[in-house]
Amino acid sequence: MSDAEISELKEKIKKYNKAYYQDDTPLVDDAEYDILLRRLQTLEGASEDGIDPDSPTQNVGSEPAEGFQKITHGRPMLSLDNGFDRGDIEDFIKRIKKFLNYDPLKRLELTAEPKIDGLSCSITYEKGKLVKAATRGNGTIGEDVTDNIRTISDIPQQFRGETLPDLIEIRGEVYITHADFAKMNAQAEQMGGKIFANPRNAAAGSLRQLNSQITASRPLRFFAYAWGAASDIPFSTQSAMMGWLKEVGFVVNPEFQICADAKDLLHFYESISERRAQLGYDIDGVVYKVNDLGLQERLGYVSRHPRWAIAHKFAAEQATTLIKDIQIQVGRTGALTPVAKLEPVTVGGVVVSNATLHNSEEIKRKDVRIGDTVIIQRAGDVIPQILAVVLDKRPEDSEAYLFPETCPVCGSPAERSGDDIVTRCTGGMKCDAQITERLKHFVSKKAFDIDGLGEKQIELFWEKGLVKTPADIFTLQARDQKNIHKIKNFEGFGEKSTRKLFDAIDKKRIIDLDRFIFALGIRYVGETISRGLARQYGSWEKIYDLIQKVIAENYHGPAFAELSDIGGTQMAVAARALCAFFADKENDQHVKDILQHVTTRPLEAQDFASPIAGKSVVFTGSLQKLTRAEAKYKAEQLGARVTGTVTKKTDYVIAGADAGSKLDKARSLGVEVLTEEEWLEFCNS
Ligand code: IVH
Repeated sequence: MSDAEISELKEKIKKYNKAYYQDDTPLVDDAEYDILLRRLQTLEGASEDGIDPDSPTQNVGSEPAEGFQKITHGRPMLSLDNGFDRGDIEDFIKRIKKFLNYDPLKRLELTAEPKIDGLSCSITYEKGKLVKAATRGNGTIGEDVTDNIRTISDIPQQFRGETLPDLIEIRGEVYITHADFAKMNAQAEQMGGKIFANPRNAAAGSLRQLNSQITASRPLRFFAYAWGAASDIPFSTQSAMMGWLKEVGFVVNPEFQICADAKDLLHFYESISERRAQLGYDIDGVVYKVNDLGLQERLGYVSRHPRWAIAHKFAAEQATTLIKDIQIQVGRTGALTPVAKLEPVTVGGVVVSNATLHNSEEIKRKDVRIGDTVIIQRAGDVIPQILAVVLDKRPEDSEAYLFPETCPVCGSPAERSGDDIVTRCTGGMKCDAQITERLKHFVSKKAFDIDGLGEKQIELFWEKGLVKTPADIFTLQARDQKNIHKIKNFEGFGEKSTRKLFDAIDKKRIIDLDRFIFALGIRYVGETISRGLARQYGSWEKIYDLIQKVIAENYHGPAFAELSDIGGTQMAVAARALCAFFADKENDQHVKDILQHVTTRPLEAQDFASPIAGKSVVFTGSLQKLTRAEAKYKAEQLGARVTGTVTKKTDYVIAGADAGSKLDKARSLGVEVLTEEEWLEFCNS
């Protein structure tokens, strides 16, 4: 009897919840609602079956005491590469086909759907039951918003149907419709509540609430469009998966469509652009994905983006405002970047008060002056740009802007060399701006990533004379013990956070080799190149030896060829910059000083549990099953180092059809040679 009553009450309350929280049209008054809810609580308390986590008694109003718990995603939540015009999309398709060795004339099925401008979430289901939910956070770790997600009626607590994977993370976008947003702000205005700038902020503000009752009162919605970690994936195409997501109880975007080629995609884009205002919710573009999941798997990822998808973004939004001043910023590599200080103006929901002017040429070309009224544009997360000057509004006494000939920070001459469009401060390590910017880069997220040591702290320690070079970071504690002015007495510090800072620094005395290289902040030597170098050479000593050889050979010998050989046209440029950095005695000494305190950790074979981890391989001849790019990617994914030259140290040469001199060399050196088939089998073993 009471079981039947429990389920009846649950259904009733859920219906009332939806009417009240989602539709803003209560079906019963508060008093009646409370009586029902309390009755349900009583019955559940007495029930032997325990309380169902789906029950409305569990879902509304649970209140996490403190800030959010953290959840590590089963698979990182990545972002999408962007394209802005027809050419970008055609290139995207060409790239994919080339990577897959797909007949360029054959159609490749892609899907198209709107890119929702909300906030992404990952919701974990075990055997079809919602168990946890997290915001994107930093992509690896998000905030636990399980209780809040449970209040959204577009999201099932339990999958419908038979297909219940042991585990699957469902991903999608939480958003608010235009109508609900207007209603919400009108209400807030009346009641003196918080007014949100745009639906995206409103959605984020509503989901990231510590009190899920507040979330429940907000009109949040959800479109499912992807998945993360999964014990099994029931279908083999993106479109079939979307169908399945709908079947199990999610809302998927009704505009979702399968397209046969670039023409279809662009047609979809046009159609959505025209109807953008009528969709009823904010979108900032459309997303194209390869439909076949097998191909998606083969295509894999490039740094933080899937290679199999792209966002086709809408043209940016524009606004008109006034330039109050032009200031020059000096970057890590000495680049002088002019920045326009603007009369603050809202562009596409964001207040903009700075815009980049890029370089002196740009200022000259557009004849931008202080006091000018300008049209600015903002596209996605990109720094706002100045499009043009409104000449009608130019003050009569206006004068052309004179680009400084000296560094505004250190006074050294500022110059342009060769065909470099950028004016650079020639002060090098004599320029405070360059030093502090390098220090900030050194401790940044993708470099040493020292907890509690960010840009603000670097500036403070710099001003106090405590940190002048990266190596100084590692002697801070020892010096602090002797100093009269203790860090713990600085504003914003104290005993505990000073202790924590020292501990955080100690933790980084052993650092991944790729992070170490990246942290040096050498021009052109970014994340990917740093990782490539670390993979290729395994230890700092080897890299450094090679750099010394390049310098000795004056960049013209075999050492330079070897260093440039790890692929990509970028590498030759980076190799040159890397060696030039170390040819400077001061830089060289700085790095030696760091290494007095820091040990680099090679990207060891044990980082990858695969039979080819740590092996050095060379591909030669033409491969049948894989393209070169794909073969290289796959090998690197499994932890191998792919090079172009066969040496004694090469572990395997994979010889395709018509292999030539590299194969001969492998044979003469006694390097093991595999066919493409053998190689694939070996990779999969
Ligand atoms: S697919 C591997 N589809 O856009 C990434 N993302 O810029 C898979 N987004 O972080 C994401 N609408 O928050 C995908 N229909 C859609 C989307 C979408 C919005 C967001 C998502 C992602 C961001 C990437």
